Amino acid sequence: IRPIRILGIESSADDACAAVVSGDRRILSSVVMKQHEINKEYGGIHPIQAQEAHQSDIPLAIRQALKEADLTLDDLDAIAYTRGPGMMGCLGVGATSAKALAAAADKPLVGVHHMQAHALTAMLTEDVPPRFPFLTLLVSGGHTQLLLAENIETYRIIGDKLDNALGDAFDKIARLLQLPPSPTHGLGPVLEDYASRFPLGPYVDQPIEPMRFPLTKPKEMKMVAFSFAGLMTQTERRAKKEFSNLKMKIPEKVKREISRAFQVAAIGHVVQKVRLAIDTLDMPIHGLVVSGGVGSNLYLREQLRVMLDDVLVTNKLDDPIGLYFPPIPLCTDNAAMIAWVAALRLQNGLKSDPFNLPLRRKWS
Ligand code: KG4
Ligand code: ZN
Repeated sequence: IRPIRILGIESSADDACAAVVSGDRRILSSVVMKQHEINKEYGGIHPIQAQEAHQSDIPLAIRQALKEADLTLDDLDAIAYTRGPGMMGCLGVGATSAKALAAAADKPLVGVHHMQAHALTAMLTEDVPPRFPFLTLLVSGGHTQLLLAENIETYRIIGDKLDNALGDAFDKIARLLQLPPSPTHGLGPVLEDYASRFPLGPYVDQPIEPMRFPLTKPKEMKMVAFSFAGLMTQTERRAKKEFSNLKMKIPEKVKREISRAFQVAAIGHVVQKVRLAIDTLDMPIHGLVVSGGVGSNLYLREQLRVMLDDVLVTNKLDDPIGLYFPPIPLCTDNAAMIAWVAALRLQNGLKSDPFNLPLRRKWS
C-alpha cells in the first residue's frame, strides 16, 4: 500500500503556507508566501492586514502546493491545519479552508499544535531522524527555549528566556556597533561575520586579534534559563568607554573585537545551559535538535559539537548524543511540518478531529 499523503495548511502568523507531505517522510511540495511588504508598511505584523492577506494567499498557496505535488484533492488522505497558538483571525483562515476541503472531499481533518510541529520537524528532515527523548533548542529573534520531547505527545519546557531572545540580542548589538545592514536575514549573520573575519564582503579569512574586550557570561545560576540583558548592557558600556560618543565612526577593528567578545559570551552561555540541562535531566537523551534563525550560526554549531563530545567522555555515555540542524527554511514557519505532525498522529491511530474543535490563540 502507498504511504498516506497529507495536505497541510499553516496561517498562524504572517506566512501563508501550504504543503503536501507523505507518511514515508517525503515533502512533495512546500509553499510559503511571505508578507514582508505589508509588514514593512505597518512596522510589524498587523493582525487585520495579515488576516486579509491570508484570505487571498491561502487559496493560492493550496493550489500551488497541489500543483507542485502533481496531486488533486482526491489523492489526499487527510487535510491538516494549524489550530494554534497564533493570531485568531489568521488561524481562522487556514482552519476554515481546511475544514471546507475536508468536508468537500470527505477526508479526515487534523488540527495541529504549531509548536509541536516545530519540535518534530527534525523527524521529517533528517536522514537518520532523532529518537525520543530528545532536546530541541529553539534560538530565533523571538525565542530562546530548550524543550524536551519525550514522545510525540509529551513535551517539557526545560529552560526559557528571562529577557531578550538570542537573535534579538545579536540584532541589537549589531545595531549598537553600527554594523552594515543585511537585506535578508536580520543582523545576526552580519555580527557573526564581524566576529569571525574581516573585511566583510568577499571573504578573506584573517586571524582575529586576541580579545581586548573580554565580557563575562551572563550570571550563572544553577538553573536552566537564558538571559542576555546583562551581557547587552555590559557590551554597551564597553563600547561607550571606547568611543565617548557612539555617534562617532567606530573603527572596523573595534567592531570586530566587540562582536567577537559578545558572540563568545552569548553563545558560551547558551551552550553552558544546554549542558546543565543534559547533566541534570532525569532521563538520558538521544539527541539535540537546533532550530530557529540563530541555528545557522557556525560558532554556535561548533561549540555545541565540542560540548557534546565532552559530554560523551565525561558522562561516560554508551552512545553519543546526536546533533541535528534541520534546514533553516523548514525551521521557520511552513506547512510541511503541520502535515507531518498530522501524518504521525494518523499513523498513531487518530481517525479525524471534529469540525467544532476550537482554535487556541494561546496554547502552552
Ligand atoms: O527564526 P528566525 O529566522 O525568525 C524569527 O525569529 O522571526 O530568526 C531570525 C533571527 C534574527 O534575530 C537574526 O538576526 C538571527 O535569527 N540570526 C542569527 C544568525 N542568522 C540569523 N544570529 C546569529 N548568527 C547567525 N548566523
Ligand atoms: Zn513558528
